[in-house]
Amino acid sequence: MDAKKLAEVGRLIAVNPSSVAARLAELEGITRQAASARLASLKNAGVIAVAGNGRGVKYALLDTVREVRSYPISGLSEDWVWREQCAPVVKDLPENVRGIWHHGVTEMVNNAIDHSGSTDVQVGIARNALSTKVWVSDHGEGIFLRIQRALNLYDARESILELAKGKFTTDPANHSGEGIFFSSKMFDHFSIRSGALFFMHDSNQPDVLFEKTNSDHGTLVVMELENDSERTTREVFDQFALPEEFSFAKTIVPVRLAQHEGEKLVSRSQAKRLTRRFERFQTVILDFSGVEEIGQAFADEVFRVFQNAHPQITMAPIKATEAVTAMISRARIGLGR
Ligand SMILES: Nc1ncnc2c1ncn2[C@@H]1O[C@H](COP(=O)(O)OP(=O)(O)OP(=O)(O)O)[C@@H](O)[C@H]1O
Ligand SMILES: [Mg+2]
Repeated sequence: MDAKKLAEVGRLIAVNPSSVAARLAELEGITRQAASARLASLKNAGVIAVAGNGRGVKYALLDTVREVRSYPISGLSEDWVWREQCAPVVKDLPENVRGIWHHGVTEMVNNAIDHSGSTDVQVGIARNALSTKVWVSDHGEGIFLRIQRALNLYDARESILELAKGKFTTDPANHSGEGIFFSSKMFDHFSIRSGALFFMHDSNQPDVLFEKTNSDHGTLVVMELENDSERTTREVFDQFALPEEFSFAKTIVPVRLAQHEGEKLVSRSQAKRLTRRFERFQTVILDFSGVEEIGQAFADEVFRVFQNAHPQITMAPIKATEAVTAMISRARIGLGR
């Protein structure tokens, strides 16, 4: 069965483990018996598991590949990890999907090599009928602490805001700070766990940040993509380039990441945290989803003071509530242009 057909069955099971044969029959326009036979052959091939019988039968997806390897970092190249461990697992998937995997795996393994300070890195890959997952983990300093230290940030949570803006690197001589920004947007799920923080980017959902009570050393990055995804690396890059330009000129900043739990965005210092490094971009889209309201001083600092000091930057708020829009309009009245 090709990747697309297999992923369709996988999606039916992922959505609901029951009445899979009936839904498969409907989706494919085949008889219920033919659908059951197809499921039976997938069970025999070890692709799915079946429990119960009759109306109570339930299906589950099985990993057809699951492999974890550990590599000493000294002398390691990210391309080698890609070619040896990951490329063979995805070799039959569509070209756009392989392109995303090549990008994500090499960027995240390169990060462990160049930034973690760890002596080794573990790379795991698992594939089922619906999707493939890769995780990269090291035992180094931890990404959020490293960024906190480099920028002298008061709170490690601010590191996530800097990563979300893009073009952030602690090693500008050798890097451009684009690895996590673009990789995170290519996958259906992308998460980073480090220390007590857990950052999650899900396609079509606002980014979220959790705090955990137990804190782990090092950094764990998890990437997951459906095997029949139609996304391409190109379309993700193009989203952040301005028309007629090929460079990374535009960013979308989830403003809610500047708002820590239980806080409201009211002060000038919060505004300065938000606008830090905006001057690296020509266009900054401010995504206000999850932000109910903002205070006058915050709005004034972002939309009047910062804008007046940087008239060349286009700042565009999106997904703002009425209360937020009103505050922004009020601040913009005082703009000197
Ligand atoms: N595994 C890690 N351990 C510690 N710090 C990390 C790790 N991965 C990333 N970082 C930190 O996060 C920053 C951003 O990573 P990102 O991959 O986005 O950019 P970069 O590696 O600096 O540049 P580029 O990926 O464009 O070469 C890095 O500069 C580094 O400070
Ligand atoms: Mg990188």
